[in-house]
Amino acid sequence: MPRVIQGKRSMSGKLKIHVDQDKCQGHARCKALAPELFELDEFGNAHEAGDGSVPADLEDKAWLAKSNCPEIAIEITEV
Ligand code: F3S
Repeated sequence: MPRVIQGKRSMSGKLKIHVDQDKCQGHARCKALAPELFELDEFGNAHEAGDGSVPADLEDKAWLAKSNCPEIAIEITEV
């Protein structure tokens, strides 16, 4: 079971993002801040790109997107 990281960056590991569809309201800040990691559907709601895996050089953007989502809809797990 992947561990959900609540606070800021803990340790360096392989990260995965997930957008909680019950929480996402389509603010699209995630897409603006990390376009490589998110895709918007026809309603403007975000989904993680691909399987949500975060390339090492995009980890900072993943954290940035998470901290800027007004609905706290973005989860980051360490896998
Ligand atoms: Fe949704 Fe938050 Fe992005 S509300 S569109 S996950 S900024």
